Amino acid sequence: MKFFIDTANLQEIQEAHDLGVLDGVTTNPSLMAKEGIFGHDNVMAHYKQICEIVDGDISAEVIATDFDGMVREGEILADLHPNIVVKVPMIRDGVKAIRYFSEKGIKTNCTLVFSAGQALLAAKAGATYVSPFVGRLDDVSTDGLQLIEQIVQIYGNYGYQTQVLAASVRHVMHLVQCAEIGADVVTCPLNVITSLLNHPLTDIGLQKFLADHAKGNK
Ligand code: G3P
Repeated sequence: MKFFIDTANLQEIQEAHDLGVLDGVTTNPSLMAKEGIFGHDNVMAHYKQICEIVDGDISAEVIATDFDGMVREGEILADLHPNIVVKVPMIRDGVKAIRYFSEKGIKTNCTLVFSAGQALLAAKAGATYVSPFVGRLDDVSTDGLQLIEQIVQIYGNYGYQTQVLAASVRHVMHLVQCAEIGADVVTCPLNVITSLLNHPLTDIGLQKFLADHAKGNK
């Protein structure tokens, strides 16, 4: 399973990269705004910086919601760097844009997916990735992980090449269960990735090893 980091924060991206387990990055307009990145030139420069840190797929989202606008923005984004994946919302013109990009060999990530039917449409349109939002479904008392299971099964039934990118992954159990289900990718904040390190028995065990070693070296 690939690990993507879901942030536009360069320090966090660098930290996850330095851990040696990072496969890519996802961003969205909210995450860019959180870092104070506004204006076309600043946004483009920021994506370029991310591409310099991580040698993996980097999702950059279009803002337009009409076909022509999404195509225009997506082509500019895709020209920035070969690793850019054009992130397109699951709306009618978005599906058409995904088909267009797919035929041009431009990678896409279909975002804001909340149902198996939407995921099926994204795959039919030729999306490279589909992003079901696990945590946001949980937020409205719907089992987000069940959707991941459904999509993995449906794609498997027909051999769709679209990769299931579990998004809005908020904690370790989300991540581990996505791996059990067989999601191709998870994207999550840095703290979810680093939380995988934690186990109290590891800390206790290490303390004991070091204490015993110290005894013999007195
Ligand atoms: O990848 C989508 C993600 O950014 C949404 O996460 O936690 O805002 O629902 P969250």
